[in-house]
Amino acid sequence: MNRQPPASRPAIIGRGVSARTPRDFARRIIAWQARHGRHDLPWQKTRDPYRIWISEIMLQQTRVETVKAYYDRFLERFPTVGDLARARPKTVLRHFAGLGYYARAHHLHEAARRVVRSGGDFPTRLESLLELPGIGASTAGAILSLSHDEPHPILDGNVRRLLARLSLGRNPERNARETTRLWTLARSLLPEKAGAAYTQGVMDLGALLCRPRDPDCGHCPFARDCRYPRSPEARRTRRDPVRNRRPSREMRLLLIRRSGRLLLERRPRGGIWGGLSCLPEIPPGQSPRQWSRQLLSAPVGHLVRHPPWRHPLTHLELTIAVFGTEVKPGAGSLSSRATRWVTRRELGAEPLPRPIQRFLEGS
Ligand code: ADE
Repeated sequence: MNRQPPASRPAIIGRGVSARTPRDFARRIIAWQARHGRHDLPWQKTRDPYRIWISEIMLQQTRVETVKAYYDRFLERFPTVGDLARARPKTVLRHFAGLGYYARAHHLHEAARRVVRSGGDFPTRLESLLELPGIGASTAGAILSLSHDEPHPILDGNVRRLLARLSLGRNPERNARETTRLWTLARSLLPEKAGAAYTQGVMDLGALLCRPRDPDCGHCPFARDCRYPRSPEARRTRRDPVRNRRPSREMRLLLIRRSGRLLLERRPRGGIWGGLSCLPEIPPGQSPRQWSRQLLSAPVGHLVRHPPWRHPLTHLELTIAVFGTEVKPGAGSLSSRATRWVTRRELGAEPLPRPIQRFLEGS
């Protein structure tokens, strides 16, 4: 007997998701994950919620390949939540430098301290996890699904794209209404058990097949009546739920040396490289000369413009331009508490953004 549903069957789950019942959707996700999903990621070797938490925070807005290089090193240095809670903020930041979005490192540290203050056991309830800084609904769902095998909905970037395409509505924009619709859909599709395999499955299908730019619909188990257009021409005529091109931003920095020391600035919390040490940034509307003078309370001589370079971040395309100068020994006095002079040797212990570290190594 042919058990396949007919090709033109009506959409049953949400709008246009091609499984006959939610359970069927989950069953197919789990079967696909077992055969084609990822099984050898470093954080899949554990069910320890602390370790899974670290991986999920690192994976927020950051690619798997990038996270792999940091994850083991971070856990070697901070093997337990207590080790993380006791560490100095600067040490935690240094182990995060290069991953971007440094608010995550501050939140990790603060969350570890709170866990230790309330007894040291990592929370096992969704509500308690949601009270910790840096843990939103999707991260909390992923932590509990992957560590306790409980079914919880998630809606990270990959899963959002997958569900948005499968059930493409009339208005696929990233607004609050669409987000609510997708959470409702994500909840309705959950299996009763096997939360870990299911969660890994939706993540993997989103990341490996339902890719932002060139989705591999030919291998997708839901291709037959997914609402996302198959041909690039047809896609151009519809608004795509996939996010648009990254905006660009220019960052102008000052490289000021004095008697073998370098002027560094602690970047403001929030924003790009929040809380990291960096070359001082020239605010918009100020010239390199004006801003050097402002920082040092003294005029500066010739400024050299180093060739600018592009540095893509997850959310924007950065162009970095550095202006360098040398001031006389003892010249100037620092006008901002965020700036200080550091020696070459001290530089090694500073939590610097990776592109700036590389630039300084070459300069
Ligand atoms: N993205 C977010 N969480 C992930 C995980 N656990 N595995 C792979 N990619 C992910």
